[in-house]
Amino acid sequence: MKPAHRIFNVVGARPQIIKSAALSRALREHYGGLMEEVMVHSGQHYDKKMSDVFFDEMGIPRPDHHLHVGSGTHGRQTGEMMRGMEDLILSENPRLVLVYGDTNTTLATALASAKLKVPVAHVEAGLRSYNKSMPEEINRVLCDHVSTLLFTPTRQAEINLAREGIVHSGEEPFDMDHPAVVHTGDVMFDNALYYGREGKGNSRVIDRLDIRDKPYVLVTLHRDMNTDDPGRLQAIMGTLLKLAEDEKITVVIPLHPRTRKMMAEFRMGKSMDSSQWFRITDPVSYLEMIALEKNARLIMTDSGGVQKEAHFFRKACIVFRKETEWVELVSHGTARLVDASPEKIREAWELFRNQKNLDFPPFYGEGNAASLIAGTILRFLEREKST
Ligand code: UD1
Ligand code: UDP
Repeated sequence: MKPAHRIFNVVGARPQIIKSAALSRALREHYGGLMEEVMVHSGQHYDKKMSDVFFDEMGIPRPDHHLHVGSGTHGRQTGEMMRGMEDLILSENPRLVLVYGDTNTTLATALASAKLKVPVAHVEAGLRSYNKSMPEEINRVLCDHVSTLLFTPTRQAEINLAREGIVHSGEEPFDMDHPAVVHTGDVMFDNALYYGREGKGNSRVIDRLDIRDKPYVLVTLHRDMNTDDPGRLQAIMGTLLKLAEDEKITVVIPLHPRTRKMMAEFRMGKSMDSSQWFRITDPVSYLEMIALEKNARLIMTDSGGVQKEAHFFRKACIVFRKETEWVELVSHGTARLVDASPEKIREAWELFRNQKNLDFPPFYGEGNAASLIAGTILRFLEREKST
């Protein structure tokens, strides 16, 4: 029997662990025996509720290797990850390295692999905010430029890559200079369909938060531009508190550890803790999050993933950013950019509060992105071997 092609499936931050579930499933179910998946965790996120919970709940194989890098400044964190990843690639000799999204884990892994001439496959390639003050924008642009296989979740992503001269090469075998750009749709849509099926959800969270039969707005907030600037953080949280009290609507916030830390540092949160309308809780599991999303009146967030999940579960979305990579949601009119402006948050709330009959077109593929990605990877590895 031919030995299986060894590939690294690299995660580190919460959304990557979640995305990897779709790939891991496709690799096991369709390509078991042909590709050997080696799960690698950088350690960027390490709290149980930011990491372990997803492995357990989503049936993701436990990491074969863990770099335990933890938190730090960008340079330190990225540098530590590169060191660890380089050693691991040299000792484990994978044929390809699979990375997700736009975090420091993505960048460090892509750079370490590319310089060792191990092909990088980038899931969620081509997204752009055109705002390089976001660390994520730097990470995703650099990762795309050293990737060999670029998997785009949207048509806009393909257009963005073409603007930077990254187009599908007709020449095989593909390499960094002659990459493959393949439109697959979004693995998060695969996940939403798979885990969102009736019976899989965890609706106990609804009772735990005492929100059954109560209208509520679901909020997440974690971008450094919002959390690390006390003016913006106060503007958003203060507006939410006022809105909740005025409109008598519950606001549910599973709080990211970064936001919790900054609220403590800025001494915010007392009035929120004492408001009967606020439910601030620790980060929730993916199945709990899905249950919260499905039952929310509407969703407010600065998260990339949560913007799309609002769409998957047919909810209007108010986005605490000036721009978004998911431009189709805004141009379609079911998401609205409000920055950190109290007036814009109010306006968007008025617009969406009672709006029914919104439509949510299938912008993100057919729910088979992960198997398209896995199939493309296998063809690439087979072809590379034969040349
Ligand atoms: C990171 C990603 C961001 C992604 C987000 C998903 C980068 C540059 N940012 O942001 O793109 O949207 O993950 O959630 O890669 N912390 C804990 N426990 C943890 C993890 C973090 O307490 O398990 C706290 C630490 O104080 C840490 C801070 O959160 O310093 C920020 O963590 P970090 O991973 O650097 O960035 P995120 O804001 O999580
Ligand atoms: N999520 C979760 N629990 C939470 C908050 C978010 O499981 O308490 C999930 C969410 O459903 C989505 C993903 O985390 O699948 C989004 O990750 P995050 O917002 O941390 O990062 P981003 O997508 O902005 O990079």
